[in-house]
Amino acid sequence: MKATFEENLQDLKEYLKKIEYLNSAVSVLGWDMRVNIPEKGVPYRAEVMGYLAGESYKLQTSDLVKEYIDYFAAQGELDFLTDRMIKTVKKEYEKTKKVPEVRFMEYVSLTNLSESIWEKAKEESDYGFFKPYLDQVIAFNKEFIAYWGVKGCQYDTLLDFYEPDTTVDDLDRVFGEVRDAIVALLKRINESGKAPDASFLQGTFSVESQKQLIQEITAKIGYDYQAGRLDESAHPFTTGFFKDDVRITTNYVEHEFINALLGGIHEAGHGIYEQNIPAELQGTALRSASSMGIHESQSRFYENILGRSKEFWKYFYPTLVKTYPQFADISVDEFYKAINKAEPSLVRTEADELTYSLHIIIRYEIEKMFINGEVSVDDLPRIWNEKYREYLGIEPANDAEGILQDVHWSGGLIGYFPSYALGNLYNAQLLHQLKKEIPDYAQVVENGEFGIIKDWLVEKIHKHGAVYMPAELIKMATGEELNAKYFIEYINDKYSEVYGL
Ligand code: CO
Repeated sequence: MKATFEENLQDLKEYLKKIEYLNSAVSVLGWDMRVNIPEKGVPYRAEVMGYLAGESYKLQTSDLVKEYIDYFAAQGELDFLTDRMIKTVKKEYEKTKKVPEVRFMEYVSLTNLSESIWEKAKEESDYGFFKPYLDQVIAFNKEFIAYWGVKGCQYDTLLDFYEPDTTVDDLDRVFGEVRDAIVALLKRINESGKAPDASFLQGTFSVESQKQLIQEITAKIGYDYQAGRLDESAHPFTTGFFKDDVRITTNYVEHEFINALLGGIHEAGHGIYEQNIPAELQGTALRSASSMGIHESQSRFYENILGRSKEFWKYFYPTLVKTYPQFADISVDEFYKAINKAEPSLVRTEADELTYSLHIIIRYEIEKMFINGEVSVDDLPRIWNEKYREYLGIEPANDAEGILQDVHWSGGLIGYFPSYALGNLYNAQLLHQLKKEIPDYAQVVENGEFGIIKDWLVEKIHKHGAVYMPAELIKMATGEELNAKYFIEYINDKYSEVYGL
């Protein structure tokens, strides 16, 4: 260590920048692998990425990092930003260091294998084939939780990686309220016997026209194409190498355009967030999103709160009609209702805005049970099906559309699902505050003054990077802790209008 605090802080920042450079390079290669790579190029690319990720890992877990952590711990009270920076570095360091390397390597091999087994099991709709692998993935996670330290419960330890400082107690409270509210609303919708006509959303829409429409709309709402680009991939995603180079993708089908468009707007929401995290946070380990839930709040704000609102389409309807003249015969109101049709379905990724959170809550309830040791893997298909019947009123006909639906658990991604639903709750609460601070919000959207909305989100969320925990950020932005009431009000108002309840 050098003589002064300032010198050591500067050195640490330089050191963290090297990690950022490596991670940025891995991200570029990863983007290219999902967007451009010829089929035969995949294995070698995976090797290169594996090597670079390994180098980044070595830097993150080196003895020097430990020296920095100890040095700053001995400095007494740190200024706020340095304190957050050191906490984050320490958390990352301990996450990897506390697990014996040999067990970690075994786990990596297991999850690679388990993902390919899952793929096959899903194809054949055979949970029995996948079950022993899932059982091992869960056992490994429980073992790791013991190394990391059990927080309130075992599941809390996993949740903390994606939604720092959020606990099962928090989620049980808000998700319980949301689940009951959606189930009740679906019942009312069902009893109304009404369903908007959405047939006109089907037709023939060339990929070129779709791409142009998405570019025009996402540029207008604030995604900066001089610091980004739109490409195509099987599953839409966003990846940022730095704030001035943030890429988004979407997936096109020719017989309908709305999924690619709203998917593109969703990714642009992630992209706008990343483009507005300040460059000054470089080298602090805080130049990222506050949490996965906050990230999803931004994408869903653009996709749902804006992109599925009537005001948004009042503004963009002429653009739509210019691209697809057949919509001249459809009113904005009919179009708005069509893109907000709500219907229980079995597949999460195809769910509408209303039922989506139920799919997530089901997964949360199940993973919480198997991590906290309340059920065996034998019981999972039955529990899955029962929950679908209870909350959505429908039941999968087989494992492929039930318990085997998502890739997440096979790859060890456990504790991640809640962020999707949290995103919906955060953004309804943000909307409530936004309307208080910008009382003519509806008119602002209808006039296409999206800069006003973007500036507000930058000020409240984006510019803080990962300096604050999600709960702190929401409290700073809205003056209150996470409260499910705003989302419940939002869906009740919206669907009462769409369905004339
Ligand atoms: Co997303």
